Amino acid sequence: MRQVIVAGNWKMNASKETVNTLVMGILAGMADVKSKVIVCAPAPYMSQVEALITHSQLNLGAQDLNVNASGAFTGEVSADMIKDFGAQYVIVGHSERRSLYGETDDVVAHKVQVALDNGLTPLFCIGETLDERESGNMENVVSLQIQAVIDLVGIEAFKNIIIAYEPVWAIGTGVTATPQQAQDAHAFIRSMLAQNNADIAQTCSILYGGSMNPGNATELLGCEDIDGGLIGGASLKSDDFLQICKAG
Ligand code: 13P
Repeated sequence: MRQVIVAGNWKMNASKETVNTLVMGILAGMADVKSKVIVCAPAPYMSQVEALITHSQLNLGAQDLNVNASGAFTGEVSADMIKDFGAQYVIVGHSERRSLYGETDDVVAHKVQVALDNGLTPLFCIGETLDERESGNMENVVSLQIQAVIDLVGIEAFKNIIIAYEPVWAIGTGVTATPQQAQDAHAFIRSMLAQNNADIAQTCSILYGGSMNPGNATELLGCEDIDGGLIGGASLKSDDFLQICKAG
């Protein structure tokens, strides 16, 4: 049985005050949450979150990492820096990084490798655009995204990788994939892993992301191959986020 994982991706939304309110609100409702819960904070707030979640069930993640260990890379954040704040997770290859900052499948694969080499668990994001879906290319796009990582780190590495399937057309749009669309994509991803290693396919967690909210979480998380969620907008309100955490 795969444990349900619910991760919040705050993206570039935070202030010292909102982080305090949000994390305290989540902590207050964690007692009856059985899922593994991760919050992925913007880098300047990781220290604040680290202090707030000490001795709690809440886990910390970052939203991106640079492939270099240190040096002249203005504005970037290294794996060591992420670990320095007690974080064990890092989002890699989010569609916003791919589309706005030009991260190719190869760049994303390299970031997955660096995260793993440094003992961080990557939340490896994949997903197709609306054009790609409508032209019947979803499976092809997702396959290439996964294959780039398999080629670089090998299928065994997926023991330590969490996959997040986030159809780009569902991110921040309020348009959620139907449970059937999401389940079909997840089953396809798992079958692709199974072609390489059946055991890994069964144990690898595949999260869904894209306009997941308290109203649709139970149905989505009830699908056989959906093992959790990567939540954007609804992770910014503790009540909504907790409801999703409890739906799993
Ligand atoms: P929304 O939940 O706001 O659609 O964002 C999903 C996402 O991009 C999480 O990484």
